[in-house]
Amino acid sequence: MSGKPFMTFVTLLLVLSFFATYCFAREGAFILVSRRLLSEDLVEGSPFNVTYEVHNAGNSDAQKVVLEDPNFGNQDFMVLNGSVTLTWDVVVAGEKKVTVVTVQPLHAGDFGARPLRLSYRSSKTNVEHESVALASEILFVYTRAVYERLKGSHLLAWSVFFLGTCVIVGVPFVVYILGDQSLRKTKRKTK
Ligand SMILES: *[C@@H]1O[C@H](CO)[C@@H](O)[C@H](O)[C@H]1NC(C)=O
Ligand SMILES: *[C@@H]1O[C@H](CO)[C@@H](O)[C@H](O)[C@H]1NC(C)=O
Repeated sequence: MSGKPFMTFVTLLLVLSFFATYCFAREGAFILVSRRLLSEDLVEGSPFNVTYEVHNAGNSDAQKVVLEDPNFGNQDFMVLNGSVTLTWDVVVAGEKKVTVVTVQPLHAGDFGARPLRLSYRSSKTNVEHESVALASEILFVYTRAVYERLKGSHLLAWSVFFLGTCVIVGVPFVVYILGDQSLRKTKRKTK
């Protein structure tokens, strides 16, 4: 009985803190992140490039910017060039940094969909920001044999669907939790 009002209260708090943090963030640095996979189909053993773009859309510099992508762990992938922990001492207001990392999938399967983590300090407000991605896509890696068989057929086209852009806005930790909650609610309803 008391569960429902409590959840409403928590949701309200989350919404309020989201808007408070959002407005606050606009005062200082405000980092947007995108990740793109520059390959339509991922195949075991074939390296592919991942492009990370970090854009400071705020009005002051972002310091100690750290972006971590936990989706290319040692067991399933090998990072051939670059690092999936990206750091910049400073990203000035309006600046865009682009980094390309080359990754090799070690075997077939589906991986990923773990949120990216971003942290930085806003130089004007001196506020530390920590965020996770709103969403991250599943990475589907074909075995070479299956890929060779499917190649040229329209069946491969669907996989492109999963290789979209992953966007992180400045304060989505709260958004992420809210999204997760509403997902659970939807699930419960469909039962
Ligand atoms: C990845 O990008 C580099 C240049 O940044 C290029 O030399 C290389 O061929 C690319 N690799 C793949 C697999 O697309
Ligand atoms: C490897 O990464 C460095 C920067 O991290 C870049 O300058 C270089 O072009 C990359 N090499 C390839 C082959 O992609």
